[in-house]
Amino acid sequence: MVKIGASILSADFGYLKKEIEKVEEAGVDLIHVDMMDGHFVPNISMGIGIAKYVKKITKLPVDVHLMVNNVDLFIDEFKDMDYITFHIEAVKFPFRIINKIKNMGIKPIVAINPATPLDTIEYILNDVYGVLVMTVEPGFSGQKFIPIMTKKIEKLKNMIVENKYDTKIFVDGGINIKTAPLAVKAGADVLIAASAIFGSDDVKTAVKNLKESALS
Ligand code: DX5
Ligand code: ZN
Repeated sequence: MVKIGASILSADFGYLKKEIEKVEEAGVDLIHVDMMDGHFVPNISMGIGIAKYVKKITKLPVDVHLMVNNVDLFIDEFKDMDYITFHIEAVKFPFRIINKIKNMGIKPIVAINPATPLDTIEYILNDVYGVLVMTVEPGFSGQKFIPIMTKKIEKLKNMIVENKYDTKIFVDGGINIKTAPLAVKAGADVLIAASAIFGSDDVKTAVKNLKESALS
């Protein structure tokens, strides 16, 4: 069954603890923390302290999504996290980064921007825990899912199946009750959503609807 990750980018930061408790109760499977440096993407989100705070207060696995240029500089700060997601566009030596993350006892995930071809990750596909397929340009929540990304997810799924890998497909950007079934049909294992969850007055129902839609 598909898993749901709540991206706190759309949460009310004044009530972060409450917001996280709400999504825990609603039955999400992981917390996704978007970190931006103002260089890799044209936005700045939250700092390292927020990721550490989130890890401290939740029992759920925490995934830090690094939308930063200098991945190597920050990795050591995330030693308590469960997943570290880095962008293929930001690194020169992905095997080095992957090994460093694995040596910390953390699962590495490689993120890939919408227009970046899949062959950029072909040779690391078996070494990462998962691939985070960006279905919007990274930097902001509340954007529209790019329809042709379903083809990319399908293609990636085929690469994984053909090679008998165990790599998981995460999908991030514009996920809602309309796009969730498309992503799952194409091969997604985990759906990350911010506005579809935190943008709702009723988080519990929003997560339930998202899960149900993913089954349809
Ligand atoms: C975008 C972030 C996403 C974002 C998703 O740069 O990586 O995780 O928070 O937001 P929605 O679900 O609103 O598209
Ligand atoms: Zn993200």
